[in-house]
Parts: sequence; C-alpha cells; structure tokens
Amino acid sequence: MKNNLEKVIITGGAGFIGSNLAEHLFENGTKEILIIDDFSTGSFKNIEHLENINIIDSRIEDVEDLEKQLSSYDFCFHLAAGVGVKYIMDNVSKALNTNIEATHKIFNVCSKLNIPILITSTSEVYGVSEDEIWTEETKSLLGPPTKLRWSYATSKLIDEFMALAEYNDGNLNPIIVRLFNIIGPNQSSEFGMVVPKFVDAAIKGDEIIIHGTGEQTRSFTWVGDVVNYFRELALIEPYGEIFNIGQPEEISIKELAELVIFKTNSSSKIKFISHEEEYGKAFEDPMRRTPGIDKIVSLTGIKPSKKLEEMIEEIINYRVNLNK
Ligand SMILES: NC(=O)c1ccc[n+]([C@@H]2O[C@H](COP(=O)([O-])OP(=O)(O)OC[C@H]3O[C@@H](n4cnc5c(N)ncnc54)[C@H](O)[C@@H]3O)[C@@H](O)[C@H]2O)c1
Repeated sequence: MKNNLEKVIITGGAGFIGSNLAEHLFENGTKEILIIDDFSTGSFKNIEHLENINIIDSRIEDVEDLEKQLSSYDFCFHLAAGVGVKYIMDNVSKALNTNIEATHKIFNVCSKLNIPILITSTSEVYGVSEDEIWTEETKSLLGPPTKLRWSYATSKLIDEFMALAEYNDGNLNPIIVRLFNIIGPNQSSEFGMVVPKFVDAAIKGDEIIIHGTGEQTRSFTWVGDVVNYFRELALIEPYGEIFNIGQPEEISIKELAELVIFKTNSSSKIKFISHEEEYGKAFEDPMRRTPGIDKIVSLTGIKPSKKLEEMIEEIINYRVNLNK
C-alpha cells in the first residue's frame, strides 16, 4: 500500500472526470500533476484554477517524446478517450483510434518506466446483458459490428485485454475500473450526456428529448465518489483487478426527465424520438444497467455518498450558475 501519490499523470485531465480527479488529488497531498489532453471534449476552464499542473496540449498519439515527458511521475490515471454516445456515433473511427492506439502507446511507456496505471473502462462492456445485477464476472452481450455503437464497448474491452495480458506477462501494473454513468460538475452537455442535457433544457424551458420509450433505466454515480475510489485504488494497488464503480439506485429515463422538470420548476415538455431517427440503424440501447459494487465497497470501505435527488439538485445549482 502506498502512502501518497506525489507526482501524477492524468490523460484526459481537462475533461469531466479528469478535472474533478485533479482537484481531489491536490486536496489530498499530491504535489504535481501532468495533464495530457487534446481538448477535443475537455476544456481549459475545468483546470485553469489549479496550480502545479503541467499541460501537454496534444493527442497522445502525436506526442513524440512521451517516455521522456512521463519519466519522473509515480502513477498514471488514463482517462483520455472518445466518450459519449453522440460523440462516438459522430466520430467512430477517431474514437476507436484513440481508445486503442493512444492506450497502447500509454501502456508501452508505463511498462518501460514501471509506472502503475488506472484504466477507465465502462459499463458498456456488459452490452445488453440480461443479468439482474452486473458484477465484474457478468458475461458481455455485445451487438454486431454493424451496430456501430458497440465500437466504444469493444475498444474499451480491447484496452482491458491488453492491460491484463501485459500484467500476466509481468510488464505492467494496471487497475481497471468500469464506470456506470457518472454525473457531476464540469460534465459537458454537448456530447449526448443525459443529465446535463436534460438540466440545461429544463433551465431554458426547452423540450426535453428522450431517445426511445424512456422506459430504459440507468443508475447514476456522483463524480466525487468516483475520484475518491480512484485515489484509494491507486494507494491500495490491487493490480490486475477489475472493479465496477457505480451506484445501484435505478431510475427510468422518463422518470429522470420528470424529476429534472420538477426540481427546476420548469415548463419544459418531454418529447420522445426513436433511436433510429436520432442515430440511424446502427444503434441499440440496453434496457437496464445496474452495477454490482460489492467488490469495490469491500476493498475500500467506501460507499456511494449521495442519493440521486441530491445529485440532481447539486447539478441544477451548478448549471444555473454556469448558464448565468
Ligand atoms: N462519464 C461517464 O459516465 C463515463 C462512463 C464510463 C466510462 N467513462 C470513461 O472515463 C474516462 C473519462 O471520461 P469523461 O466523462 O471525463 O469524458 P471527457 O470527454 O470529459 O474526458 C475525456 C478527455 O480526454 C481528452 N481526449 C480525448 N481524446 C484524446 C487524445 N487522443 N489525446 C489526448 N486527450 C484526449 C478530451 O479532450 C477530454 O478532456 C473516459 O475514458 C471514458 O471512456 C466515463
């Protein structure tokens, strides 16, 4: 077990989770952070208030002297990826390249420099599994490659396989986390993320658009809990292991829209659009997604800290101020 994380790399550190992580690490004793980000979906605004950060403003794929740049750091949180259903559907090839090529490059360098790494995978890897609760051992049920939405899940599964293969060969010390719909401050509404999109629409009194019937359920997880888990895992060092990070409380997308309208006291109406109309035939969506989180809770002793209603209230306050 480590005592602290002094000098840390965060790829994708200008993004939603990365910027929250940087803040959390500085609050808990980290001295210096190197952020590698191409600002494709991240924003400088998320990190401009932070001191002691070094920034490489580039795609990971294009950084020439990566080994030299990373050589003095103790730990790497690898978050850079093409993320978000809308972003992925609009940029399938680019997102695939990042999720595979950039990750492979980071693994090579971390392996050469002996830097342990936490890799952010996703609940999407379970596909449309019909298991009631998705534990780390649940079998994946992914759709065919003609449904391009599964490219994101597949690329993240490849990352997991690459990490575990390198671990088995004794070359890399990876920790894999599978994240389930994370929400909180700094999340952009631009790339199809449901909560910030609904909240922004409700604040403006615009229509809230639901894709599909709205009967599909999701469980949402507070970003503050996620970054707390990340730091704990890096300290505990459970290399070669996979952990779900999520919150088991479920809500249907229709109920979520109604909750947002109620909490913002909005006049917004709900409109339903079929997935096909929005994304074409290459789309499929799981009806449920509920994480089993016993493994991470028993290892870290940390339980999800907030109920969904509380999270929504905090996000509304944050976005009302943001949109002023
Ligand atoms: N937010 C969620 O609900 C969620 C769920 C499952 C998994 N994840 C995973 O968590 C990680 C972080 O997601 P997020 O929600 O903070 O998304 P985000 O889009 O806010 O962050 C990703 C960051 O990576 C940067 N980036 C993208 N491609 C890059 C490249 N080639 N080189 C350098 N930087 C690049 C972007 O500019 C952005 O700042 C991702 O790996 C994502 O797949 C997130």
